[in-house]
Amino acid sequence: MKATICGALLALSTLPLLPTPASASRTLKISHQPIEGLVNEDGSIIHYDFLNQRFTEQEASEIDFRRRKRDLSGAGSKRSQRECRDTKQQSDKSGRHHSLIGGVLGGVGGLVGGVLGGVGHVVDGVKDGLTHYVENGWMHDHKFGIVIAKAENEAADNEFLVDVSFGTPGQTLQMVLDTGSPEAWVYSPVCCYGNNHSSFDPAQSLTYLNRTVVDGKAVPAPPGTPGQDFNVAYSSGSATRGYVGLDTFAFEKGKFRVDGLPLALATNLTGSRRGRQMDGLIGLATGSGTQVPGGWTTAFEAMSQRGMLDETYLTATLVKSDRKTGRNGGGQYVFGEVDKTLLKGDVTWSKVLSAFFWAGYVSKINIDGLVLAEGQGNATNPIRFLVDTGSATISMPPVMAKAANAQIYGSYKTDSKKVQLPWLVPCDTGLKKYEAKLPKGQRNKALEITFGTEAFSLPIEDYVFFPQYPVPASEAGGRENMCYSAIQEGLSSFTLLGLSWIKNHVVVFDQGGPSLSERRVGFGKRRDVKYDV
Ligand SMILES: *[C@@H]1O[C@H](CO)[C@@H](O)[C@H](O)[C@H]1NC(C)=O
Ligand SMILES: *[C@@H]1O[C@H](CO)[C@@H](O)[C@H](O)[C@H]1NC(C)=O
Ligand SMILES: *[C@@H]1O[C@H](CO)[C@@H](O)[C@H](O)[C@H]1NC(C)=O
Ligand SMILES: *[C@@H]1O[C@H](CO)[C@@H](O)[C@H](O)[C@H]1NC(C)=O
Repeated sequence: MKATICGALLALSTLPLLPTPASASRTLKISHQPIEGLVNEDGSIIHYDFLNQRFTEQEASEIDFRRRKRDLSGAGSKRSQRECRDTKQQSDKSGRHHSLIGGVLGGVGGLVGGVLGGVGHVVDGVKDGLTHYVENGWMHDHKFGIVIAKAENEAADNEFLVDVSFGTPGQTLQMVLDTGSPEAWVYSPVCCYGNNHSSFDPAQSLTYLNRTVVDGKAVPAPPGTPGQDFNVAYSSGSATRGYVGLDTFAFEKGKFRVDGLPLALATNLTGSRRGRQMDGLIGLATGSGTQVPGGWTTAFEAMSQRGMLDETYLTATLVKSDRKTGRNGGGQYVFGEVDKTLLKGDVTWSKVLSAFFWAGYVSKINIDGLVLAEGQGNATNPIRFLVDTGSATISMPPVMAKAANAQIYGSYKTDSKKVQLPWLVPCDTGLKKYEAKLPKGQRNKALEITFGTEAFSLPIEDYVFFPQYPVPASEAGGRENMCYSAIQEGLSSFTLLGLSWIKNHVVVFDQGGPSLSERRVGFGKRRDVKYDV
């Protein structure tokens, strides 16, 4: 691997290393914490930061779609397919699906254009029922490559919390796993909000060391040395400040230890996080997307690079909560294999086309006969997607969000400043009795997203986000029983698939082997979800 992203890793050899467990798949149980409400006792609305858009519009809307036409041409596909076969032979020998090309991830802003064109993934005959391989274009999308998207509010998404312990002995905290940002942070004991959050105390950990940066490289610092500054500001004006250390993360009740990972200790947070359950956040986007000097390596990257996983997969199987109470959701994340617990059928793969995000191309987005995007896409209706476990809803480019909501019976866009998300839909959307009463021909139809040739859908009931919490009629143009739509306006360049989508599917993130060079994301249908199409 190139030293550019492994500065932190190179330094690890000086840390006390604990025995590495044998390769295995790892399962994390998640406790989904309910949201308590939208409205204060005095009737004003709480502004949940987690409902904000997480990404700033860094990469503007002008996208060279002509270039992509060529990307998707048959010539490109053929070339990739041939090389896929070469890859397959290699894979068979090594028993892994890893790439032939190592060290592709450059520094921040580095382009990986040459790589994606060269090697495809194994197509057929792969185990785990993975019979589909979607060739969604074979050239790297430079526009994705330069998005250094900062999560706007990683502290407060719809919280699927995972127990992770830090340090030695382990201090267990409830963490959000976030595929939309790279860094990991926890509350330091000197931080914020009193007893509302558990913190990580580095003084209690035998394996903790501060991290400093020497000649651009992150290295462990002798005790007494100040840790490198951590200062991540978000577009809303919120920020996480603190310092960076290195310590062990342990999953699965401390059994699966990953040593020497960078960890930010937050000493100051601005923006509202006081009501959130989470004690911190573990980023799972690519570490090379960080803006922190010295680089970053995510827990998932480290597990993959160090050969700690059977396969370099992370499967998210997130289970939605009860519609009435908002409780009893959960599900699990599994590192190391395609989790088939609730998987129905095959996983459909899409090549990841962004250096930093779990992002690529869809082939179509539609609601019944209304096509929101297809083919090459265009400037207002692009075909890019990005999967983000740290975002609550689905965000579409404004033109698409408007068209999609227009298909939902009774939708309304409020201009109330008190409401965090403008698109509202009737809270009963998707309920059998309600749908049956709608005028014939106006019954709601499901949103469908096609990856390659395989269509996946959002159950109609999940057009509603927070069905338990109607927006006051005063903020909804006088309409009663209106709730947040699960489809909101986001950036103009891609559709962001947040938890509203993820909780209805099996989502697999594949690093493409220890070299992390052939990432792809897979979607599978669920046995426990009732789809309408
Ligand atoms: C803890 O959270 C509660 C509920 O959101 C909030 O009212 C309270 O102010 C918080 N306490 C601190 C010290 O931030
Ligand atoms: C690590 O750095 C922080 C912030 O500079 C400092 O307060 C702390 O004492 C340092 N810890 C160690 C073990 O040196
Ligand atoms: C941290 O927060 C406190 C309280 O809001 C503030 O007084 C202090 O200046 C902040 N420190 C930094 C370094 O931002
Ligand atoms: C962009 O794509 C959408 C969806 O396919 C389509 O309805 C629209 O007409 C296209 N716009 C242009 C300018 O071609």
